[in-house]
Amino acid sequence: MPQNIAIVGLQWGDEGKGKVVDLLALEADVIARCQGGANAGHTVIVGEKKYILHLIPSGIIHQDKICFIGNGVALDPFGLVEELKVLESEGIGYRGRLFISAACNLVLPYHKLLDEIYETRRGESSLGTTLRGIGPAYRDKVARQGIRLADIFDDRTLKQKLAGIKSQRTDLMASLPDDPRCDFDKIKTDLQALCPLLLPMMVDVSFELDRLQREGKRILFEGAQGAMLDVDLGTYPYATSSNTTVGGIFTGLGVGPRMVDEVVGVVKAYCTRVGAGPFPTELTGETAELLREKGAEYGATTGRPRRTGWLDLVALRHACRINGVDKIAITKLDVLDDFETIKACMAYEIDGVEVTEFPPLISSFERVRPIYREFPGWRTDTGAVTQFDQLPEEAQSYVRFLADQMGAEIKLISTGAARSETILV
Ligand code: IMP
Repeated sequence: MPQNIAIVGLQWGDEGKGKVVDLLALEADVIARCQGGANAGHTVIVGEKKYILHLIPSGIIHQDKICFIGNGVALDPFGLVEELKVLESEGIGYRGRLFISAACNLVLPYHKLLDEIYETRRGESSLGTTLRGIGPAYRDKVARQGIRLADIFDDRTLKQKLAGIKSQRTDLMASLPDDPRCDFDKIKTDLQALCPLLLPMMVDVSFELDRLQREGKRILFEGAQGAMLDVDLGTYPYATSSNTTVGGIFTGLGVGPRMVDEVVGVVKAYCTRVGAGPFPTELTGETAELLREKGAEYGATTGRPRRTGWLDLVALRHACRINGVDKIAITKLDVLDDFETIKACMAYEIDGVEVTEFPPLISSFERVRPIYREFPGWRTDTGAVTQFDQLPEEAQSYVRFLADQMGAEIKLISTGAARSETILV
């Protein structure tokens, strides 16, 4: 059993990382989240209960674990408070075991307003963002005008920073002077009202993780979104604004590369995407609908119906390489139980040329024709299967083929939402 495991999504998010984190957290002492924000929606089902977390690491559900939110996370402090209330109402205590980096950049109400304004201005080329203010918050961070968690505890700094933002953003804000999300005095007062709650949680996450590692504690790094949404390596500009690949762990938590002993890539047995942008294996019609209904493919954050399609091995090989994936966790295999034939895309045909590598130019995707390999379906319920060799032959060959193509070992296969519906390989 490796000491520290990183869990990353290999597609466009929504691979089922919540369940994988929940399972692997059983063996860990610490769970740390390094990037993204409340755009993520991690669903965990425990018995009859369903938890949807956006900002707080899914590991919080295990009451004996310590959780960290790293500096790379875009932290919506008001959203966080709402999530804490939900945890409290469910009897899940967080005091003394949820810690947040002092260097987290905050997502504030005006970021959500700006997200809406930018999306509207993009018109037909809008990105389909979650409207959670993520892009504008990371934009402020990179422009070095973001407000960090530590700033809210210092009246003068907070005042100066808010005044700076107000003066620079007049062009956008002027059109909506009465929108309460631009009321900077209110934002300041509301932030300062959170100080007593947030102060005991604020720490130097890098220092704490190093200390815990030295004490022999096991750390689970919980990724959000997926490789194809990485701002550098995904389908840019149809991406989110953070590094969703393994590198995000090092900068987003302040840890060195040797801290990660194993990278587990989570891949759904088919493919989905929510929001705009290229999706070479996208299906329409009856098959698309079957995948959506059987897989309950509706956004955990926005409720939007997800686009659905077959697995894309060109994109997945790219995702495994950029993440240095050691093992894969295959989720939602049971969704394919009823299909007579299953397809996986082996290569793209672009302008008559067969391409097996992920194209760097976004406009090439408009001309991609997926080249598929067909697999016979198994037409058997796999929900209750807990041993790999109890899976139907066809299902075994499908997952073996995927692992082989992705150059990774299979760590686990999930055949349902419950913890028990899992094959540990
Ligand atoms: P943003 O992160 O809200 O700026 O959205 C940018 C793109 O990433 C949009 O296409 C979103 O639908 C997508 N996205 C962001 N977070 C998630 C997620 O957790 N799951 C799936 N898609 C996401």
